[in-house]
Amino acid sequence: MSRIAKHLLPDSARTNALGHLEIGGCDLISLAEKFGTPTFVYDEAHLRARCQEAVRAFGKQRVVYATKAFLCGAMARLAYEEGLLLDVATGGELFVALNAGVPGSACVLHGNNKSIEELKMALDADVQHIVVDNFDELDRLDALHASGAKRARVQLRITPGVAVHTHEFVSTGQDDSKFGFNLRNGDAQRAVDRVRSSASVEFVGIHCHIGSNVFAAENFTQAAQIMVDFANQLGVDELTLGGGLGVAYIEAEHAPTITQWAESLAAATAKLNKTTKVFVEPGRAIVASAAVTLYRIGSIKQLPGIRTYVAVDGGMSDNPRPVLYDSGYEAFLPARADADRTERARVVGKHCESGDVLINDATLPSGYAVGDVLATPVTGAYGHSMGSNYNKVTRPPVVFVRDGVARVVVRRETYSDLVSLDVADSV
Ligand SMILES: Cc1ncc(COP(=O)(O)O)c(C=O)c1O
Repeated sequence: MSRIAKHLLPDSARTNALGHLEIGGCDLISLAEKFGTPTFVYDEAHLRARCQEAVRAFGKQRVVYATKAFLCGAMARLAYEEGLLLDVATGGELFVALNAGVPGSACVLHGNNKSIEELKMALDADVQHIVVDNFDELDRLDALHASGAKRARVQLRITPGVAVHTHEFVSTGQDDSKFGFNLRNGDAQRAVDRVRSSASVEFVGIHCHIGSNVFAAENFTQAAQIMVDFANQLGVDELTLGGGLGVAYIEAEHAPTITQWAESLAAATAKLNKTTKVFVEPGRAIVASAAVTLYRIGSIKQLPGIRTYVAVDGGMSDNPRPVLYDSGYEAFLPARADADRTERARVVGKHCESGDVLINDATLPSGYAVGDVLATPVTGAYGHSMGSNYNKVTRPPVVFVRDGVARVVVRRETYSDLVSLDVADSV
C-alpha cells in the first residue's frame, strides 16, 4: 500500500518540508506535542467548504446540519454562520446550539421519543419546525397547547418503505423501523388527517430519512420519488429528504460529492410542486473527512504466524464505530506522511475489551515504534459525538486548525471532570 489516499484527508492536508503531514498549515507532530494525544484535529476551512458546497447546491436555509454527527459550540456557530439550519435530536443538542448563540429559529427538533419537556423547550425557543415522529408526540403537543404553549410548526416524519444498502443499525426508511409514520399501512395518512384538523399544530410538511452512510444514488432517488408523490398529493409547503450521504472511510471507497447528491435529488424531485421548498439534513458528509485523530503508540506485540497488535492511547471511547458497525478505517504516521505502508497490524485501543479494535487489518510504514504518533483519518463524524468515558478514559480535546493557527474548541477532559457529577455521601 502506498501513502494514505488523498481523498481520505482534509482538503488542506499536505506534506511539509520535514516530511510531516500538516493540516490547516499546522504540523500534526507539533500538534500532538502541544495538545497531547488522543486529539481530534479538524480542518476549519474544510468544514466551511462543505457547508458552502451544500448551500450552493440546495440554497440558504435549506440545509439542516445534523448535529448528532459532531456538535460543540464552535461547530454550531460555524454551521449557522455558513447559512445552515441545525437539526437537534434531543433537548441536550438544542441546549448546546442555543448556548452557542444559535437562535432557536435556526433549529429543527427531531427525535423518536421527544419528552414533553423537550417539546416545550423547542416551542419556547421558537424553533423553525418540529419533525413529529409518532402519535404520542401529537398527544403531547395537544397537551402543551391546551396549557398555553404556542402552535407548533410541524413536519411529519414518514417511513417510505425503502430499504437501503448500509448497516442495519443505521437503516431507517424500511417498514420495520422505530422511526416515523408508516406510509404503506396508512399511518402516514392518518397522521396527516389528524394534524390538518388540529388546533394545536400547524402542518407545514413531510420528512423522510432513509439511513446513514448511504452511497447508492438510487436509494435516495427511490425515496425522493415516493415522497414527491405524497407531497404533491397533500400539497404541502415543505419536504425534507433527510441526510445520510455516505463518505469514504477506506482507500477503496469513493462516495458521491454533496453536489452530485444534489443533482440526483434534483432529478428525482423534478415533478414536485414548484411552491414546495426542499430541505436536506446532511451530517457526516459535512464533517467526517474534515478531521483526523492523533494517537500515540504505547505498545507493540508481535505474535509470529498470527499477527501484530499495535495499541494506542485511545480506542472505542473516542471512536465506537468499528465496534458498533464493524466500520473500516485506515492509519498512517504523520511523521512520515509519504512513506509506503507495507506492514500489516491490528490497531487496538487501551480499553479492557478484546473488542476494542480501531482497525482490524491496518497497513503502516515499516519501522514504526512505541512513542510514534499514529493518525486515523475520517474521524470527524460520530466519533467525538458518540464517545464515552468507558474505563474512565478522559475524552480527547477538539482542535480546529486554520491558516497555521490551532485553537482548542473543546478542552481535554480531566480526572476532576470524571468525579464532578458524584454527590458526596450523606450519612
Ligand atoms: C433524521 C436524521 N437526519 C439526518 C441524519 C444525518 O445522517 P448523516 O450523518 O448520515 O448524514 C440522521 C442520522 O441519523 C437522522 O436520523
